[in-house]
Amino acid sequence: MPRTPMIAPSILSADFARLADATQAVKGADWLHVDVMDGHFVPNLTIGLPVVKAVLASTDIPVDCHLMIDDPDRWAVGYAEAGAHNVTVHVEAAADPVKLAHDIRAAGAMAGLSIKPRTPFEPYVELLTHYDTLLVMSVEPGFGGQEFIADVLDKVRKARAKVDAGELRVLVEIDGGINADTIEQAAEAGVDCFVAGSAVYGAADPAKAVGALRERARTAMRQARETRTM
Ligand code: DX5
Ligand code: ZN
Repeated sequence: MPRTPMIAPSILSADFARLADATQAVKGADWLHVDVMDGHFVPNLTIGLPVVKAVLASTDIPVDCHLMIDDPDRWAVGYAEAGAHNVTVHVEAAADPVKLAHDIRAAGAMAGLSIKPRTPFEPYVELLTHYDTLLVMSVEPGFGGQEFIADVLDKVRKARAKVDAGELRVLVEIDGGINADTIEQAAEAGVDCFVAGSAVYGAADPAKAVGALRERARTAMRQARETRTM
């Protein structure tokens, strides 16, 4: 079965005074990506659990929480309990990531592990057997609208190979600088789920932008498949 690309608009690029409108504006999106930043793990501060709860109440789209925070061991489970579909923590911040994955799952969410652009993939293969998603950062976390770092696609290829070989069962997600110009190379490398902030909310019609990005990814995946079987 060919993989179907998933698009996760990041509300970081939406109008924070109108978050309910922002969730309505991306009907048809697969996940809604919500960036939680604490001003410590990253040099930016966004929203926390009370606002995430309000977002959850405003949409039926599964919410994908990306926690760019220190001490996720203390805070992550609250997002799972609140009803997030996937809760991603950073490997650079988690003290006991195995227990954390277990606790997030026990609270009813999928557990995600994120690696920053300069964090290698190989040391965490065993750890990822406890997780449902791998979020590969393709910009330094903290801000939307940055330029895509193509070097991280090596990590995507390695993760894809492990998943295809049945050694890992994670969904491969990418975050940062994804737009009409970069999504194809990410799709060819093996990404399943594409986070896009400025490319969606900067568009005149965000829902249409979601559909267009998905089509580009789908075409690139199909071409990559055909090249492999030639
Ligand atoms: C950055 C965030 C991203 C951000 C992506 O640290 O994790 O989710 O919203 O924004 P774009 O797609 O504009 O790079
Ligand atoms: Zn993010």
